Amino acid sequence: MSTGLSYPPGPNGLPVVGNTLDLSRDVFEFYEQLRDEYGRIASYRVFGTDACMVAHPDAIQKILLDDHDAFEKGEVITRNLDDAMGEGLFLTEGDQWKSQRTHVQPAFYRQRLNTYVPEMRATATEMVEQWRDGTVLEVNDAMTETTMDVLGRTLFGVDVTDEPVVAEASDAILARFDTNRFWSFLPETIPTPTNRRYKRELERLRTFVDTLTAERRDQPPENRGDDLLSILVEFLEASDLTREELRDNMVTFLFAGHETTSLGLTYALLCLAQHPEEQERLCTEIDAVCDGRVTADDLAELEHTERVIDEALRLYPPVYMFFREATEDVELAGYDIPEGTTLVLPQWVVHRDSAWWDDPKAFRPDRFAADSGRPEYAYFPFGGGPRHCIGMRFARMEMKTVLATILSDYTFELVSDPNPDLIASSNLKPGDPIEIRLRERESSGAVNHD
Ligand code: HEM
Repeated sequence: MSTGLSYPPGPNGLPVVGNTLDLSRDVFEFYEQLRDEYGRIASYRVFGTDACMVAHPDAIQKILLDDHDAFEKGEVITRNLDDAMGEGLFLTEGDQWKSQRTHVQPAFYRQRLNTYVPEMRATATEMVEQWRDGTVLEVNDAMTETTMDVLGRTLFGVDVTDEPVVAEASDAILARFDTNRFWSFLPETIPTPTNRRYKRELERLRTFVDTLTAERRDQPPENRGDDLLSILVEFLEASDLTREELRDNMVTFLFAGHETTSLGLTYALLCLAQHPEEQERLCTEIDAVCDGRVTADDLAELEHTERVIDEALRLYPPVYMFFREATEDVELAGYDIPEGTTLVLPQWVVHRDSAWWDDPKAFRPDRFAADSGRPEYAYFPFGGGPRHCIGMRFARMEMKTVLATILSDYTFELVSDPNPDLIASSNLKPGDPIEIRLRERESSGAVNHD
């Protein structure tokens, strides 16, 4: 039953394709213009789908937290990901989701995460030990490799660096989201090159994941450890999880936990490279807190490092927007949202909105130092409500550990474009390489490589 209110305003667009062309030209500009012309709740159409952008913190809070039962992930997201991870935590709904979330949660308890820190530090140290004074580093590549390595070692207890299948499959899954390519809006049944590659890589990834699982099942329980894979295997054996759910969850965690964190670090380094004074503050903090190498206990004391991460995730949110679908007619900010409407929640727009942020384009970590009085959902890099990112603490710990390890030994300056092109893919990706030149710190504990 309709709420009797009016539908949010928006542009008319072309018949059939609606606003698809504008959207595929520049997603960021499209949503910002939509807000400027029609307001923070505004409608548009993509290939016959009725969609609304929701860029007001109060309405976002209502969707994610207060009335979360009236929304689900929806067709736009399941259409692209169902094949790969339809039975995993990211996409399931209702009791199935609840049961999985409860079962998987122990892998992300603080105590458990603390035990991952030495592995995170060791991985970062191996990376830093390859560097020299004056090295020009392609940041995104380096962070991709490191975060994949960390994920493999900590959550799955395996070295994935020798397994290109993981990186390639994750790339192929993520490539299907390139909203700057018109064909990404076509269904996956149409054999575009992206779709063919996706199917091939997904099959290879599944074989890899099945082998890993079989190997773990062959081990006696007392030798298995208590990483995520072992936890999943235990629930499979207790019949709390099907084989398909286990496999889809492995793919889910590889997909959700890898590129996001790598991009978070890449953008933090991009911002820091343009702010030597912030690097200096971090060096002072890290030298004062960490005794040569960062430990789990140190992390809570790295307060300014935390603020730098917060600010980088504000300016460059790796998840720059995500979707919900209304499962019933709902009222949102005085508008009628009919059942079936696709809702887009764009971090990119809200995190850079001058209504909530002073001088929004400036990199100013100190804005997170004091209580600002801004609405809670003016900042939501990890989503919110019951379906907030389960890996948030893991990602923050990893980012802090990697930054502290780098800045213990090196400072750096930006070599590449300070305003790189950004690609609205599955995540917010740099279109060009981000490059920094490393300078060994005089007081560094770095190994002398000469
Ligand atoms: C900077 C890094 C990360 C960012 C920005 C990020 C962002 C997000 C966001 C926005 C959501 C909510 C999506 C929605 O509500 O539709 C989410 C969910 C999720 N994230 Fe993350 N994430 C990050 C790292 C990680 C890591 C490291 C893992 C795992 C190791 C992970 C696993 C997941 C999973 C499984 C979900 C679905 C949770 C559920 O529905 O119950 N993420 N993430």
